[in-house]
Amino acid sequence: MIKLTNIQKVYNPRKANEFEALKGVSCEIEDGELVAIIGKSGAGKSTLLHILACIDSYQSGEYVIDDITVKKLSEKKYARIRNEKVGMVMQDFALVEDFTALENVMIPLSFSKKKIKNKKQKALDALKQVGIEELAKKPCNKLSGGQKQRVAIARAIVNEPSMILADEPTGALDSKTGEEIMELFKKLNREEGRTVIIVTHDPKIAEQCDRIIEISDGEIVKNAG
Ligand SMILES: Nc1ncnc2c1ncn2[C@@H]1O[C@H](COP(=O)(O)OP(=O)(O)OP(=O)(O)O)[C@@H](O)[C@H]1O
Ligand SMILES: [Mg+2]
Repeated sequence: MIKLTNIQKVYNPRKANEFEALKGVSCEIEDGELVAIIGKSGAGKSTLLHILACIDSYQSGEYVIDDITVKKLSEKKYARIRNEKVGMVMQDFALVEDFTALENVMIPLSFSKKKIKNKKQKALDALKQVGIEELAKKPCNKLSGGQKQRVAIARAIVNEPSMILADEPTGALDSKTGEEIMELFKKLNREEGRTVIIVTHDPKIAEQCDRIIEISDGEIVKNAG
């Protein structure tokens, strides 16, 4: 379970361009939930997702994930949580373009502290799960938007994280491909019991989730099933 209590995030603190992107955000997300985060551009959705993913810090408040308070950790433990508990699909995919699909999916495995047998097979399995096993050897700069999105999802799930976070995963896709990607997230949630949190502008995506959290100007203004 994850629990945020009064999280405040300030970019460029004490500088002229200081900006309070999250103004005391509190919410709880149970294991196995499928949650949408919605809100206008600049509302703070990506900021919130980055904090949940342990790739960005916050100024005050508390973030607890499975009884571990994220803030007081050493960088090593922080990295470990990031690597083992969280799978993040970034807003712009963040793939290494001249790596193949397989090489991209293998990246988190090479960072993992756990001893992992047969990393290549594990990465191939993740590609199979997202339906693009046959593209394993293709460089990412030769893939379509939907295919890249699938590689990014395969990379997020390869370490079998309990929580998958996706930032606008269907934003750059046509509606049919977007729907296929959504089906994939639903499958990961329903069949494998993973917590899935999706930032989206698309009401059709949001309404397929168990709960919708709406952010406006750095605050949660709606949180309903
Ligand atoms: N690194 C940064 N430095 C300063 N300000 C930032 C930084 N990142 C984000 N912001 C500001 O914080 C606010 C929230 O940004 P965020 O990226 O979380 O919005 P968002 O809801 O994800 O928007 P979008 O829908 O456009 O992706 C915005 O006003 C943005 O300009
Ligand atoms: Mg964003």
